Amino acid sequence: GKKEEAAAPAASAAAAPPPPPAKVYVVGTDAAYAPFELQNEKGEIVGFDIDVVTAIAAKAGIEVKFVNTPWEGIFNALGQGDRDALVSSITITEERKQTMDFSAPYFDAQQLIAVKDTSKVAKFADLKKLKVGVQTGTTGDEVVTKLLGKNSTNIKRFESTPLALKELQSGGVDAVVADNGVVIHYVANNPADKFKTVADNTSFAPEQYGIAVKKGNAELLEKINKGLADIKADGTYDKIYAQYFGA
Ligand code: ARG
Repeated sequence: GKKEEAAAPAASAAAAPPPPPAKVYVVGTDAAYAPFELQNEKGEIVGFDIDVVTAIAAKAGIEVKFVNTPWEGIFNALGQGDRDALVSSITITEERKQTMDFSAPYFDAQQLIAVKDTSKVAKFADLKKLKVGVQTGTTGDEVVTKLLGKNSTNIKRFESTPLALKELQSGGVDAVVADNGVVIHYVANNPADKFKTVADNTSFAPEQYGIAVKKGNAELLEKINKGLADIKADGTYDKIYAQYFGA
């Protein structure tokens, strides 16, 4: 109509090209690892890791979006550029450092054993002749593979840690080995399963979680590390930590 004819030429002639849309960094997470990353009833991705990265992003002045990414493909998704970063309770290991870069550590962890509360298992070595469930490709998988042997048919590998715990409940495995925070959270929240935890500080090495970026992405890594340092310095990190794990 009349209005468009009058307005359009003036606007296009005078206006500078629109600014590029702000970059949204895509953060992959395997959201089946409560309380670190999970999907709530609304299907939203929530948890400790999510709160930490959201707080880091706010400090760093960047925009992030979390995308549920199954663990088995998570590192490839980063390598291929489908994800800019990963936060998924990922233990920083020498092997992983060959193919990706990690932020400063943001959480201390260790493997922990879950068994039925009637179990006689008292230490990691007691699992040697038992059936053990792990999430494929995790540090739990690594330690159990070392103990039971690479070709052991007693290792049952699952796509997710909740699936391994389900198998413990149904009796398909005698134990599950996974990160302490997740095992403790599960046992506390599922009393009907009648599980207990068995710690073994001499068998399990300390682990630390890091946020992963594609190898060489120094620009993003710097922003993340700066944001992480900032939320540690100003008490934001401690607040989030207390919310999930107590003071
Ligand atoms: N910390 C362990 C690892 O890095 C397990 C992480 C699993 N994370 C997850 N969201 N499923 O291997």
